[in-house]
Amino acid sequence: MNQPRTARPHRQVVSFVRRSTRMNDSQAKAWAERGRWVIPVPREETSTSIAPGTRIAWPEVFGREAPLIVEIGCGGGDSLAPLAAAHPERDHVAFEVFRPMLASTMIKLREVGADNVRLLDANGVEGLRELFAPGSITELWTFFPDPWHKARHHKRRLVSAEFGALVASRLTPDGCWRIATDWADYAEHCRQTLDEHPDLINAYAGAGGWAPRFAERPITKFEARGIAEGRDIVDLTYRRRR
Ligand SMILES: C[S@@+](CC[C@H](N)C(=O)[O-])C[C@H]1O[C@@H](n2cnc3c(N)ncnc32)[C@H](O)[C@@H]1O
Repeated sequence: MNQPRTARPHRQVVSFVRRSTRMNDSQAKAWAERGRWVIPVPREETSTSIAPGTRIAWPEVFGREAPLIVEIGCGGGDSLAPLAAAHPERDHVAFEVFRPMLASTMIKLREVGADNVRLLDANGVEGLRELFAPGSITELWTFFPDPWHKARHHKRRLVSAEFGALVASRLTPDGCWRIATDWADYAEHCRQTLDEHPDLINAYAGAGGWAPRFAERPITKFEARGIAEGRDIVDLTYRRRR
């Protein structure tokens, strides 16, 4: 008997692959206590999606108005935890789709005693679009985004012209987008995509285009591996075109 054909929802291209959700004991404990850190959001089709129209009033969440720093792909929080602890005057929102890494982030946040952070178990591209008003973000961080080397996977790269337009729309007039990568082809891709972008300017255009290393950024596992394997680490900084 023929099965009725059901329409398959069109899957959007995303910059991540969902990996195992298996956690070690300390991650599982941290995840069980996530209520303090992780903001639940209504989903659309997938478990990493955010239902269109979802809004979050950040001043209510943090109990104050403060500069907002957003990170997409915080991994295990190696940058987020020390930087948030070093800047209690700012509020940080980080997106990560890999739950064990979010659990590790929470462990680090507890260790450093940072209360100015909230996490979302969700696609940061959707998060940026849905949860932040235009002109509301002081900094966006994308440190060591997945490189997606193969040509047929380039469409999965987080950095794209479309994403650049979204970032520009969410930055404050004096805000900035910080990128770091250890892959030369990804760095070139960023320059080609963003340097001539109608909504962005390279903050170091007059100095060769590469930003000095963001001095406060700790050396994460990804940066250390890049160095160990002989790759140059590059930073890029973009501002919105006024
Ligand atoms: C190569 S790791 C780098 C992690 C971290 N930034 C660091 O430097 O240690 C990239 C991370 O980004 C996450 N990621 C990729 N695309 C994402 C997205 N659209 N939203 C949220 N997380 C994402 C992946 O799950 C992965 O953990």
